[in-house]
Amino acid sequence: MSYSISLTVNGAQQAVTLDDPRVTLLDLLRERLDLPGTKKGCDRGQCGACTVLIDGRRANSCLALAVTLDGAEVTTIEGLARGETLHPVQAAFIDHDAFQCGYCTPGQIMSAVGLIAEGQAGDDPERIREGMSGNLCRCAAYHGITQAVCDATR
Ligand code: FES
Repeated sequence: MSYSISLTVNGAQQAVTLDDPRVTLLDLLRERLDLPGTKKGCDRGQCGACTVLIDGRRANSCLALAVTLDGAEVTTIEGLARGETLHPVQAAFIDHDAFQCGYCTPGQIMSAVGLIAEGQAGDDPERIREGMSGNLCRCAAYHGITQAVCDATR
């Protein structure tokens, strides 16, 4: 049995046929839609590397079954910049050196964008750290990340 879904990814309509209902949004993005910016870390909802926005809300794409996303609007890290102009959160991450190896950075940025959109960030570092607690950084670049989100919130 196959499943046909249609979803919008970074503003583009995508019609997809799935042969396996267990395909995650993460694998769909990376392996079928040529969008490798979303990273696979734990693949079990524990690290946040795979964070995207689904209908404007933060989600771990490794936990979202693609088959359930018919009609959804998905935004990935590739969909943030406008041409040569970075999203303010992306620019703030650069300004504050908010990364070391960079593997978690797409998920951190997408989570920050969602947090700010939810009005949950404020410019309180403690609140930001709590709001971003689902996004792990093995290099422990948390100070720069928090400063970047603070800055982007202002
Ligand atoms: Fe999805 Fe870790 S890869 S939470």
